[in-house]
Amino acid sequence: MCDGCEKKLENSFEDKTVDLGMLDPILDEFKGQTGSVISILQKTQDVYGFLPLDALKYIADKTGNKRAKIYGIATFYAQFRLDPVGKYVILQCQGTACHVNGSKEVSYAICDELNINPGGTTEDNMFTVEDVACLGCCSLAPVIMINGEAYGKLTPDSARKIIKDIYNKEKEGAVS
Ligand code: FES
Repeated sequence: MCDGCEKKLENSFEDKTVDLGMLDPILDEFKGQTGSVISILQKTQDVYGFLPLDALKYIADKTGNKRAKIYGIATFYAQFRLDPVGKYVILQCQGTACHVNGSKEVSYAICDELNINPGGTTEDNMFTVEDVACLGCCSLAPVIMINGEAYGKLTPDSARKIIKDIYNKEKEGAVS
């Protein structure tokens, strides 16, 4: 790949300073395992919430892969986030069971409450909202998941309340 092409790919990523030491346990886990780049990137995203440019360069250097290859994988798969996310990531299920039980109205209420669209992050970096397919708990439809915790049988009002409660807890300093 040409230098210019690699630079162009680099522009896809957020150039934010992060603690690269947090990657060392991940890189140790996959040391010497060829074909482990996707797993390393998944775990990297678990650490930072997205794939920062500095981390990708570090992974390339430590694994002996070309940076362009790492950038290519990170941009190819939809599962990888290239932008920072909020402290709370709300996954809004839009699968069939949730859809027929009012997920659109719930989603509208959440986005209205936060003043963002799906895929967006609030200005205070508190919430990111993403639409996803089935979360695997259809009996609770409509469902959202916030940082891995499922909230089911939602109504637009109960969804708004969940967000308000989180904001209130944050204000009280009760959530770390
Ligand atoms: S369709 Fe929403 S959890 Fe399955």
